Amino acid sequence: MWWFKNVKIVDLETGSTQAKDVLVEGEKILEVSGSLTEEEVQKRARSEVQVIDGTGKYLFPGLIDVHTHLREPGQEEKEEIATGARAALKGGFTTILAMPNTKPVLDNRALVEFVCRQGERAGAAKVYPIGAITKGEEGKELTEMVDLAAGGARAFSDDGREVQNAELLRLAMEYVKLTNLPLISHCEDENLARGGSMHKGEVSARLGLRGIPACAESVMVARDILLAEETGSKLHLAHISAKESVELIRAAKQRGVDVTAEVNPHHLIFTDEAIAESNYNTSYKVNPPLGSAEDRDALLEGILDGTLDMLATDHAPHTWEEKKRPFAEAPFGIAGFETALAAIWTYLVQPGKLPVETLLKAWSLNPAQRFNLQGGSVQPGGIADLVLFDPEHQEEIEADRFISKAQNTPFLGQVLQGFASMVWVNGELRFQRETIGN
Ligand code: DOR
Repeated sequence: MWWFKNVKIVDLETGSTQAKDVLVEGEKILEVSGSLTEEEVQKRARSEVQVIDGTGKYLFPGLIDVHTHLREPGQEEKEEIATGARAALKGGFTTILAMPNTKPVLDNRALVEFVCRQGERAGAAKVYPIGAITKGEEGKELTEMVDLAAGGARAFSDDGREVQNAELLRLAMEYVKLTNLPLISHCEDENLARGGSMHKGEVSARLGLRGIPACAESVMVARDILLAEETGSKLHLAHISAKESVELIRAAKQRGVDVTAEVNPHHLIFTDEAIAESNYNTSYKVNPPLGSAEDRDALLEGILDGTLDMLATDHAPHTWEEKKRPFAEAPFGIAGFETALAAIWTYLVQPGKLPVETLLKAWSLNPAQRFNLQGGSVQPGGIADLVLFDPEHQEEIEADRFISKAQNTPFLGQVLQGFASMVWVNGELRFQRETIGN
């Protein structure tokens, strides 16, 4: 049994935070109450009691990251399922969903089952695959979604690409209803985006880089919302970055469309100016690109008023060999697992821009509910996927301390505050932060 003494528990309904004692027996949370006595704990224990003094720390429900790229099979030089799942755990994520843009694409049941098995073997964060919508993510022929769901897929997406043919996507939305799983849209019009490497605007003009207009995202957000409305299908919109998209989602929710959306930490923290200020640092190159200050402010407003339901990392590991290419030629993507929570804490929670309960709803409760996953709250009877979070712990982000194979993050060299100290999955302690040297 684990006895967490004096840990801060955030009430997701009221937003109030109170120090409590929590008992975990086996895989489950047994009790959440005011302070307990030794005698009370011993009476309830069915196994040896291990005590964690949580003074000054939070006990968070394990974070759930619905947007990650683990690269296996096929690009293990960037990441493996095991390294990704361990890096995720270090970042406070107890469950992650893996995008299908691997090589080959996760478009058949054997591959989906392979990801499940590799995830179990890693014994770190729980890993669930997202199946492809179309074979090879080529946007031409639908996959056997019912079969992929039977094999363990938790959602469907062609992420990295968008299904350009509206009729094919409409059919996919009809078909996916048989699985009761959401379809995740990458929201990108390939013709509008082609050849661009950053947000189209004043900064791209100044830097002499071809821009991607914000409407490359928002026209697809509009299209996909209309298709979801037409078909009654569950739609989830990935990595929302443009203010126009936030408006469209807000209006769709008011009409009752079954749509959810996510935002990535980098879009809430940075703007396209970061590319100029960093002298073309390719760790700021991401798709969709970092937008304007108005975009960033609209995204924050969206997460605060619930228009944007979730935070997600879009962990996109790449090798330095690729990321060291000139800006226009480097691949898109930011490795997010090991810095995302601390970055959100440092840039948004600490300065009072984002309440901690909103963070936990967006990164745990809402993903659990939308994708039908265990976890999401610290409550008796719930699964013991838990994070002991230290809001005071500071760390400089250093490449050689990464568990992920990739370090393509703009936070390198920065000191961030607020990290997971210990992480449990199914009641088992699976990560403990080495604090020596900090
Ligand atoms: O920046 C990105 N990287 N955006 C995507 O949509 C795909 C991802 C990747 O797979 O590297």
